Amino acid sequence: MHRRGLIALIFLPCSAFIAGQKAGPVTDVLGAHMNSGRGCSACHAAHSGSAGNGSAKSADASAGSNMLWGEDVSSLYGKTIATGGGAYVEVLPTSLSANTPDVEGMLTCLSCHDGNYASSAMMKNKVYEALPATYGTQNTVPTMFGTRIGGSSSYLSDHPMGLSAKLNCGGGGANWDCAQTNGKILMTGAMSSRFVTNYGFFVQPGVYNNTAVVLCTTCHDPHTMNVVNITASSQSGLPKGTYPTMFFLRAPYNPSNTNPNSNSTSQFCRQCHADKSNEMNGGSAGTVI
Ligand code: HEC
Ligand code: HEC
Ligand code: HEC
Ligand code: HEC
Repeated sequence: MHRRGLIALIFLPCSAFIAGQKAGPVTDVLGAHMNSGRGCSACHAAHSGSAGNGSAKSADASAGSNMLWGEDVSSLYGKTIATGGGAYVEVLPTSLSANTPDVEGMLTCLSCHDGNYASSAMMKNKVYEALPATYGTQNTVPTMFGTRIGGSSSYLSDHPMGLSAKLNCGGGGANWDCAQTNGKILMTGAMSSRFVTNYGFFVQPGVYNNTAVVLCTTCHDPHTMNVVNITASSQSGLPKGTYPTMFFLRAPYNPSNTNPNSNSTSQFCRQCHADKSNEMNGGSAGTVI
């Protein structure tokens, strides 16, 4: 092999990574959650929880007890956050071993994404992926919550979430004609099953008091940033295969397609907002990724 070719090969992975931060696809599915190389262990420490990562700021008897959680979350315990304009009040768990779904579904994310109570150590507070031209350019899109431009610390401008942000079925109001048993949603009604055929039901609500609730992990999967794999076991009528997404969203979500018929981003929201769907409004549109 020519020496020049060899050098190009050696440098390829490195330049691909740098390119991935600026434009184009990153190569590892963990994306921004590679956490500058620390990888899985930034979130799941093999031993000793946050102490094993050298990041224990205070003694926490529950550190590492849930999913080997490796970030120090003690500053978040018991804090109240109000989302959706204030209507959805969430009191964060007081320990990692509290047996409520907001431990895995919210406390974990806020260990890094809360800019108010938690430390912003490795965070840049700006989106890592290259955004398409349909986004504004007046500011970089922030990635930490609880710190607003102008300084006020609130979650009021965040989508409703927490144990009080409940999902309902039954076809009334904004709801799908789905069925809910012990917090599990079955999209089996005439309209909801059509929607699943046309797009799918990818979100994973948490279950609290036998009711489905909205958590960070309902919409986001922290393990894959820009790809969704639709398999035979997915609740979706879309052909099997890999689909583009962004922001670790659990469902196909492609704001980069400039085709005016492309609608995967809106389909994402319609998984829960049935009254805004084509199916519920006599429309015949499917999904254009
Ligand atoms: C940015 C933080 C973060 C990183 C990095 C991360 N995880 Fe996770 N992981 C989570 C969270 C949060 C959950 C809980 C997910 C949920 O409740 O949906 C989880 C759940 C899990 C689970 C249990 C549930 C499941 O989905 O199987 C395993 C196993 C796991 N992660 C392994 C890994 C491995 C292996 C890596 C590296 C390839 C990794 N994680 C990287 C945050 C992370
Ligand atoms: C160990 C720290 C850590 C944890 C825990 C963590 N993240 Fe992140 N996340 C990051 C970093 C670092 C970035 C890159 C952006 C930055 O530095 O501001 C990021 C970026 C993101 C982005 C934006 C990706 C993009 O398009 O640029 C989303 C969405 C996100 N995280 C969601 C989550 C969710 C949801 C959870 C919980 C399941 C979570 N994160 C937990 C560190 C973390
Ligand atoms: C109802 C669904 C939903 C919930 C719940 C949710 N997100 Fe998101 N999140 C989204 C969507 C959709 C986007 C992409 C928005 C866009 O296209 O600009 C996003 C974007 C983000 C981003 C990228 C920066 C930004 O503001 O666009 C981060 C970081 C993030 N979410 C973290 C979180 C964390 C942490 C939680 C829980 C505290 C959470 N999200 C809860 C749907 C959700
Ligand atoms: C996992 C289910 C789910 C998804 C996905 C979802 N929402 Fe929601 N949304 C809810 C719930 C639950 C509420 C609170 C109850 C209600 O108003 O129906 C809500 C409320 C809202 C509200 C009213 C907020 C307020 O302050 O009163 C808006 C606006 C909204 N969602 C927009 C969106 C958009 C835009 C998307 C897609 C980016 C989206 N939602 C995705 C479940 C969801």
